[in-house]
Amino acid sequence: MSRLEGFFVGTEMPNTGWWETLWPDPADVLARVGLKTGDSAVDLCCGDGWFTLPMARVAARVNAIDIDPALVEVTRQRLEKAGVSNAVFNVGDAFSVASLAAPADFIFMANVFHGVPDRARLVRAVRNTLKDQGVFAIVNWHKRPREETVVLREPRGPKTELRMSPQETRQSVEAGGLAFERIVELPPYHYGIVFRRGLVPS
Ligand SMILES: C[S@@+](CC[C@H](N)C(=O)[O-])C[C@H]1O[C@@H](n2cnc3c(N)ncnc32)[C@H](O)[C@@H]1O
Repeated sequence: MSRLEGFFVGTEMPNTGWWETLWPDPADVLARVGLKTGDSAVDLCCGDGWFTLPMARVAARVNAIDIDPALVEVTRQRLEKAGVSNAVFNVGDAFSVASLAAPADFIFMANVFHGVPDRARLVRAVRNTLKDQGVFAIVNWHKRPREETVVLREPRGPKTELRMSPQETRQSVEAGGLAFERIVELPPYHYGIVFRRGLVPS
């Protein structure tokens, strides 16, 4: 349990080395949810930067944001070691994304949305950060019993009761004013769901 004020419930960064097993190809995940060459991109709640590095290899600029200063530093060092210099690093609350990162083409939030207490407020902040036609991509654990989502022989991920179905996620984000675009399956246990600013909701 984190003691940082404002920390979203059930969003602690895993520290036992199984993340890399679960996500062997983070660049492919980013491509599948719509990251494009030249984007001004945001890794919102970036954790230790596992997705931030491949994001920075495609995007023109990356803004990596997390509430935990220690993790922001791990991310900064990961990119520095890789010789990647097109990123800025911000210790901050996700609700402050607009003041930290506007205007953006692509905002990515992986393994966090289930823990956000006021999702409509978060989506409004994301919407205020995005350019017209900009993309908000969420990666979530499927709403499956935690006992079933096993990685390296142990159940992993947020508690079963915190998990959100694609439909629940869609409703939350549409309530905040972004338009649903598509869902992508990210086996074995995740889905990506892509929204856009400026489309007429269907
Ligand atoms: C499960 S980790 C996922 C990290 C990264 N997105 C990934 O998938 O590899 C969740 C992250 O959310 C961050 N976090 C929690 N509450 C936050 C908040 N209010 N604002 C910004 N970051 C937050 C945590 O510090 C943690 O790094």
